[in-house]
Amino acid sequence: AEIAVFPEKSKAISDMLIGIFFEDINYAADGGLYAELIQNRGFEYQLSDRKGNDPTWTAKKAWSLSGEEASFSIDTVAPIHTNNKHFAVLDIEKPGVALVNDGFNGIAVEKGEKYNFSVFARMLDGVKSNLLVRLVDGNGEVLAEAKTKAFSSDWKKLEAQLTATKTTAKAKLQVIPQDAEKVALDMISLFPENTFMNRKNGLRADLAQAIADMKPRFVRFPGGCVAHGDGLENIYRWNNTVGPLEARVPQRNIWNYHQSAGLGYFEYFQFCEDIDAEPIPVLAAGVPCQNSSCGGHGQQGGIPMCDMGDYIQEVLDLIEWANGDKSTKWGKVRAEAGHPEPFNLKYLGIGNEDLITDVFEERFTMIYDAVREKYPEITVIGTVGPFYTGTDYVEGWELATKLEVPMVDEHYYQPPGWFIHNQDFYDRYDRSKSKVYLGEYAAHLPGRPNNIETALSEALYMTSVERNADVVTMTSYAPLLAKEGFTQWTPDLIYFNNTEIHPTVGYYVQKLYGNNAGDSYIPSEIKLSDNSEDVKKRVAISVVEDSKTNDLIVKLVNLLPAEVDASVDLSGFDIADSEAVLSVLKGKPDSKTAKPEDSKISVSEKFDYSLPAYSFSVIRINP
Ligand code: AHR
Repeated sequence: AEIAVFPEKSKAISDMLIGIFFEDINYAADGGLYAELIQNRGFEYQLSDRKGNDPTWTAKKAWSLSGEEASFSIDTVAPIHTNNKHFAVLDIEKPGVALVNDGFNGIAVEKGEKYNFSVFARMLDGVKSNLLVRLVDGNGEVLAEAKTKAFSSDWKKLEAQLTATKTTAKAKLQVIPQDAEKVALDMISLFPENTFMNRKNGLRADLAQAIADMKPRFVRFPGGCVAHGDGLENIYRWNNTVGPLEARVPQRNIWNYHQSAGLGYFEYFQFCEDIDAEPIPVLAAGVPCQNSSCGGHGQQGGIPMCDMGDYIQEVLDLIEWANGDKSTKWGKVRAEAGHPEPFNLKYLGIGNEDLITDVFEERFTMIYDAVREKYPEITVIGTVGPFYTGTDYVEGWELATKLEVPMVDEHYYQPPGWFIHNQDFYDRYDRSKSKVYLGEYAAHLPGRPNNIETALSEALYMTSVERNADVVTMTSYAPLLAKEGFTQWTPDLIYFNNTEIHPTVGYYVQKLYGNNAGDSYIPSEIKLSDNSEDVKKRVAISVVEDSKTNDLIVKLVNLLPAEVDASVDLSGFDIADSEAVLSVLKGKPDSKTAKPEDSKISVSEKFDYSLPAYSFSVIRINP
């Protein structure tokens, strides 16, 4: 094959093309990225949280009592905070009993590591007491222990630090009141001291690092369907998820589990700052999922008109919370939470894949107009509706065009063949209309694997997105995280359990794109000896330049079962004979374990390169 580039035709493209879609799906937050090790720390699980018949899904979920002559009950009288109504009561006749937590299917601890315990405790009867806190393994062997200070008849926050003497994935936490006869306990929490960037109330270091390693330019959160919920009562309200943990409002998760809100808006924004990514919060457009016919919990319709004023204020408050100074009402809340400087929010998603009905349009328009009027500097991202794969008449696009919405969110999950055959999808876009955020996409095969075939079809399609990154400004594969054994949706980008993370081949495609982004696109062409359409569509190239490093980056995808020998002609660029970095991801189409390999390759203005069968190659040249 002959490869030629046309530097004289280069164009500026978005430097925010690769980001991440974080949704609290598949236990991505509690039990996942959120480093809290205690499940149901606030005793707020409820039977009604869970569709189907799960009698264990109660305020006692993951808790039990060990020892005799004591009882464990749940009470709601005089809680720490009205948003956190339930707490545990231990009525102890014989000292020594322990309240035990199983974690999220076990608590993973590592020898020598420190763990920070905290609890709110109140004595209901008996004498002033303190707590003995232990980590024990499956055989009851004590792996760590510490004592808290004493507490008495008012709720008091107590802390202790534990150091594990052994590594196990299946530890349990024991909380043992020392002298009290009747004691109330709530918000029983255990965090590894080693969280990502050592943040308090932080994120699991290995998972957060894997995300950071992708170099995402933005983080979209908290979903997905989680953002709009499956009924009015289930819409994700950002202001319920900031402030002291014990005052946040936990919620039923649309994906059939519990959200503690411990990973809330403050933590999302902080994570964005820590990894130098733009925050992209998505708020409901005043309607729940499909206005709301999904789920089974939800009501039809949107937020009643009489409540829309308050809801719009809530949307505006988010911008004030993120960007206002300390003298503003919401800026003060942010400052008190530990972030006096504004977060510098620039983008706001309104709506997620909603059915575009009159109910939606009316509410979206009200919110959009209010944001535009008060905060014209914020780029509002609208939605074009569910699973968009065409440029024909679509109500979401009509509305976006009418309202001149600056950017719209498109979602599509399609077979690899769709991605192969629609590489001209964005070539045809009307550049006078809204910019595009491709907010959710993934290649889906029967059985939903994440393998070389799906990953390479995504890599191939992304070459066409880079080519059109003057109009497609951002993209995010979806979903991002999935806990093994607790997934509601496949494929995902990174699978994990309590001790390990398993990035997929699709993850490596995203990482290669994120680490090799550019801000100008250099048109190029591949001439293959076999010029049939079928062959041509399976080999693709994208060349970008990164003005920060002056690097020229050539991405080549080969979805053919045979090697393609190419002579690359980069004349037009002043490239001395030198060494470039070559990263190659390759494997059999059904491989789920392939990893990219880096090596050095000699380059000059003209050089030869063989694209391996079923491969994605990135050549990074510093001229
Ligand atoms: O990515 C999983 C789900 O797919 C999202 O929650 C939703 O927006 C889409 O339907």
